[in-house]
Amino acid sequence: MRKSVIMKLYIFLSCIVLIHGAAISDEECDGVTIDGIYYDKEVLKTDLDHPYSLVVDFDSNVLYFSHNLHETDNIYNTAKINLHTKDFAELDGVKNGFAQTVDQINHVLYIGSSKGIFKYDYTDDNTAKLFAVNDTDIWDLYINDVLYYIEYPSQFLYTVKNGQTERFKDLEEIKVGHFAIDDEEDMFYSNVTGLYSQKKNTKDSVHYKDLNDGDDIVGIRTDVNGKVYICGTDGIYKVNKDTTSVEKVVNAENVFGCAFDGNNNIVYADTTSLIHLKPSNNKNC
Ligand SMILES: *[C@@H]1O[C@H](CO)[C@@H](O)[C@H](O)[C@H]1NC(C)=O
Ligand SMILES: *[C@@H]1O[C@H](CO)[C@@H](O)[C@H](O)[C@H]1NC(C)=O
Repeated sequence: MRKSVIMKLYIFLSCIVLIHGAAISDEECDGVTIDGIYYDKEVLKTDLDHPYSLVVDFDSNVLYFSHNLHETDNIYNTAKINLHTKDFAELDGVKNGFAQTVDQINHVLYIGSSKGIFKYDYTDDNTAKLFAVNDTDIWDLYINDVLYYIEYPSQFLYTVKNGQTERFKDLEEIKVGHFAIDDEEDMFYSNVTGLYSQKKNTKDSVHYKDLNDGDDIVGIRTDVNGKVYICGTDGIYKVNKDTTSVEKVVNAENVFGCAFDGNNNIVYADTTSLIHLKPSNNKNC
């Protein structure tokens, strides 16, 4: 009699432990596994309207991005958030800041706006100065050996060298959606028909992926090692040069932008939030 009561109690308690255990691991394993490493999803900020064109200064781990201030008139502004402290601030001085790229050597942020390209020197006096193409609408920017930019609405790719702008010869015939260059001088770019790579100083394009109208790619980024990743609306992809294809590394919905931090961890945006993937201490996931 006594023994059976204890047995029942024991069974009852074990059930509680099991249910409780299942609930905990479900809740805590809501992260992402990349190359066998499990990452927690840390939400950096919510209540944003379409955070876009993310880029991190690898030294300071400050993330720069643009976001929509007035949904009805599409006024964007560049903002920053510290990935450690989550301190958030709007950047003043550039109207309609839309696209961002960071010169990782000189710690200069370039902002593409509807009124040209601005240089934002945060090691100096945190002021924005017009850098090139006054009064021109800029769609995207990427810095490598020189600053590359895509003009809007033409979608033509230009370079800025010593203050002089010119059409970029390698991609002269193409309207470009997004653009980046990897550590082996392979350019990756999207247009309305697909995602391609092309060795710099050549015109030989290599097909990676078909696209419907190009809208499913929201950015092309390089990590701290200069490897190229694609920010797609349905997740983040790594390029595989051996198979000339892309491999999804993060599955997510409504992605608006992605970037790497100084530790080579991914930050991405959906329609309202910024999410930081951080290696987890949780050994159960
Ligand atoms: C940019 O162009 C506008 C006219 O479109 C002009 O008023 C302004 O002075 C120019 N700014 C600079 C810095 O050249
Ligand atoms: C997109 O780029 C590829 C590769 O350079 C090119 O063959 C194709 O014609 C381009 N598509 C359009 C619509 O320009």
